Amino acid sequence: MWLPPLTASPSLDQLLPGIVPDPVRGMSAADYPALGRLRVPLGMVDRPYEQLRELLVADLSAADGHLGLVGAPQTGKSTALRTLILSLALTHTPEEIQFYCLDFGGGGLVSVSGLPHVGSVSTRLERDRALRTVAELTQLLERREQEFTDRGLESMAAYRALRAQGVLEDRYGDVFLVVDGWFTLRQDYEDLEPKVMELAVRGLSFGIHLVASAVRWSEIRPRLRDMLGTKLELRLGDALESEVGPRIAATVPHQPGRGLAASGHHFLAALPRLDSSSGIADLTVATKAAVAEISTFWTGRTAPGVRLLPTRLPSTDLPPAEGDLRVALGWDEQRLEPVWHDFATTAHLMVFGDGETGKTNALRLAARAITDRYTPDQARIIAADPGRGLLSFIPRSTGSDMWWTATAWTRWRATRPSRSASASRARRSAPSSWPAATGGPGRCCSPWSTTTTCSPPAGSAPTPRCHRCFRCCRTAPRSACTWWWPAPPPARCGP
Ligand SMILES: Nc1ncnc2c1ncn2[C@@H]1O[C@H](COP(=O)(O)OP(=O)(O)OP(=O)(O)O)[C@@H](O)[C@H]1O
Ligand SMILES: [Mg+2]
Repeated sequence: MWLPPLTASPSLDQLLPGIVPDPVRGMSAADYPALGRLRVPLGMVDRPYEQLRELLVADLSAADGHLGLVGAPQTGKSTALRTLILSLALTHTPEEIQFYCLDFGGGGLVSVSGLPHVGSVSTRLERDRALRTVAELTQLLERREQEFTDRGLESMAAYRALRAQGVLEDRYGDVFLVVDGWFTLRQDYEDLEPKVMELAVRGLSFGIHLVASAVRWSEIRPRLRDMLGTKLELRLGDALESEVGPRIAATVPHQPGRGLAASGHHFLAALPRLDSSSGIADLTVATKAAVAEISTFWTGRTAPGVRLLPTRLPSTDLPPAEGDLRVALGWDEQRLEPVWHDFATTAHLMVFGDGETGKTNALRLAARAITDRYTPDQARIIAADPGRGLLSFIPRSTGSDMWWTATAWTRWRATRPSRSASASRARRSAPSSWPAATGGPGRCCSPWSTTTTCSPPAGSAPTPRCHRCFRCCRTAPRSACTWWWPAPPPARCGP
């Protein structure tokens, strides 16, 4: 029997029969025989010589678990990715699979962000979110590697079974990192590409899948291309780029959604909508309606979100200093744990940064840790602080002293008017000599403000005895002034 050519795109509900709400699985394709098995339909394949039309199925359950999709601009890549996500969402629960999307293709994946299966969608401008997404998945991979070793597990199938029985508590099931626009990742997120590749190389055995779209195969490095077990080609700009066959690739018509399956047969991708319509004018609205429906009928836990660094981190949220002396300076983006500086192992701490990036703040944290942890007999602080950001922060009550190196301060005063009367008063009230008690403290800590405004005035050489800032230290002899003394400082380094 003659079958018409692939012209009108099917909608997803035409490929997945019997989509109904289920009390356990939520909105799902009840009649689909491979529920929860990572085998999903994406479109229709045409076999004209056999007068046959069959489902285009992506089997992501085993070695072909990473998917690569290429196509010239506007051939339907983002739409096909939405179809894939929706198709997986209708055949798996949010406990079984989760999606983390890097949407560098112009916002095409934002319409599926409301699915309970989707943990996060980052656009090209959300750099922090994109970096954190990959960091979270890298951590997940490391955790799983450890878990597999501890439990002697050999395959992801065994892991899934243990998780389903409740023996193993893991908020994540099979996780999909979806990258729409591989070229943007390579170009704008240079540092991220090797990490994503690493995830692809090591992740599949631990249930982490990569789904990537690109304009041509050559955008994807050969090492990664080899890892993409499931490959789909929409119409290519240059048929010679085809991995299926250049001659047959040249026969793919200029119709969005049309492409070549690995078998060399033409396919037409399904549309991400559940209303049996082939229209594309209202496709985004229809996709969002399908997403809302799936979301309404799911009452369980949703995919874990991506944790981001806070925009504001009060110092009270950091753990107190410990040991002799380990100071928490901030929050690590990779692991979302405190960043520590341990003066016992690394005696010096230098903080670099552009203007207004938080250098003085980091020194304040170190100064606070010193004054909190030690008595004045045990440690003192010498601060050379032309910007005066530290001055009011080191409490006199704890006995810490502010020492201004005489040369630095004199030069500073000669070149800069005081910023405020109160700062001047605070400066004058600072003790001008080292206390005689017990021959000086055991430690001398010197937070130097490394601001670029404290270079020596034109024509005057930096002092050979005490250095005013990091810049001066580089040009003056280092012998006279160290930043952390195990013993009282040399006499000539005082004011
Ligand atoms: N299977 C399909 N059937 C019919 N129309 C489709 C199909 N897939 C996509 N389209 C239509 O083609 C147009 C381009 O789709 P889409 O944005 O997904 O392409 P793209 O390859 O991601 O584009 P870009 O290269 O700009 O990222 C859209 O108008 C979309 O509705
Ligand atoms: Mg796109």
